[in-house]
Amino acid sequence: MNITYGIISTASIVPRFMNAVQKGGQGKIIAIASRSLDKAQKMAEDYNIPRAYGTYDELFHDEEINVVYIATINSKHYQYILEALHHGKNVICEKPFTMTREEAESLFDLAKEKNLFIIEAQKSVFLPVIRRVKEIIQSGQLGDIKLIDFSSSFDISYNTWITSEKEGGGALYTNGSYFIQIIKYLFESQVTAKNGLYLDGTNGGDSQCIITLKLLEHIHVVSKISTEIQIPGLAIIYGKYGRIEIPNYWKARTAKVIYNDGKTEEIHYPCDYELLYEVEHIEKCLEKGLIESPIMNRDMTVETIGLMEDIKKSWQIDKAP
Ligand SMILES: NC(=O)c1ccc[n+]([C@@H]2O[C@H](COP(=O)([O-])OP(=O)(O)OC[C@H]3O[C@@H](n4cnc5c(N)ncnc54)[C@H](OP(=O)(O)O)[C@@H]3O)[C@@H](O)[C@H]2O)c1
Repeated sequence: MNITYGIISTASIVPRFMNAVQKGGQGKIIAIASRSLDKAQKMAEDYNIPRAYGTYDELFHDEEINVVYIATINSKHYQYILEALHHGKNVICEKPFTMTREEAESLFDLAKEKNLFIIEAQKSVFLPVIRRVKEIIQSGQLGDIKLIDFSSSFDISYNTWITSEKEGGGALYTNGSYFIQIIKYLFESQVTAKNGLYLDGTNGGDSQCIITLKLLEHIHVVSKISTEIQIPGLAIIYGKYGRIEIPNYWKARTAKVIYNDGKTEEIHYPCDYELLYEVEHIEKCLEKGLIESPIMNRDMTVETIGLMEDIKKSWQIDKAP
């Protein structure tokens, strides 16, 4: 298959995706669309893309495009994935895939019916550091894993939707998929218990959250996500015989294994564009004619959205008068 990408939006993540395709992928980006033709033209010029459109609809109608990458605000993912599928396009959509479990399920059903490839863009499960961490856990070197502790924070000043509940913002919906999908990838298991606390932000979304999960009946997971304060990005996986520390776990280039007896092991995978590994995987799936990734599959997406949706609903009950 000759992969021909069309890009939906000029979001800040888009240049990073386009760099990954242009530096390491086999496919060609042939068009970009924005709600503003000027913005689309500027990005097309900067990245040598032949066509720029001033509406998303024009891109969906471009018959030369066979894969659409969607990177809009979160609340619009469902609508644009649906349009892309109706126009016969394979779809890559940024995380979180949709706002609800039901929406995600219906899109996977539709893609299957139309024999089209569909995937949530989750770079973190394709990182070589995370793959190596999985090998170490599976080897049993750390003994049984009992606790995983994630911490992260992010800047909300660059766009208003990031704090808006209506537009799919808030700490949980903006950053929660990384840690949930990393644990699902590492342990290949469903979450068996969940809980969450939040602080109210100024625009409807949560400005900070603490999520606790249970996996495999013997692993506790805690994740702290804040837009209020700066927290160093870090995941620590604790086993009986030691721990693994992964700085900036969602885009990790390094990790350190520290055994209880004092021995250590450093893991290093430097790279310029961390989305490269995800792009390589997607292109392999497309070349093989798959309609679902064996790694970032329906269950990964649907369970993750379902967990976030349930936790958010429990907060709405708290807020009810
Ligand atoms: N995988 C990752 O590492 C990663 C990192 C960051 C973000 N993301 C995800 O990527 C997506 C984009 O995030 P971002 O932070 O890059 O976004 P951003 O820079 O704030 O841009 C969002 C884009 O959405 C488009 N859009 C469509 N409908 C809109 C509406 N009604 N109001 C406002 N904008 C609208 C706009 O594109 P036009 O103006 O060009 O039409 C806008 O540029 C999100 O889903 C986010 O979760 C993923």
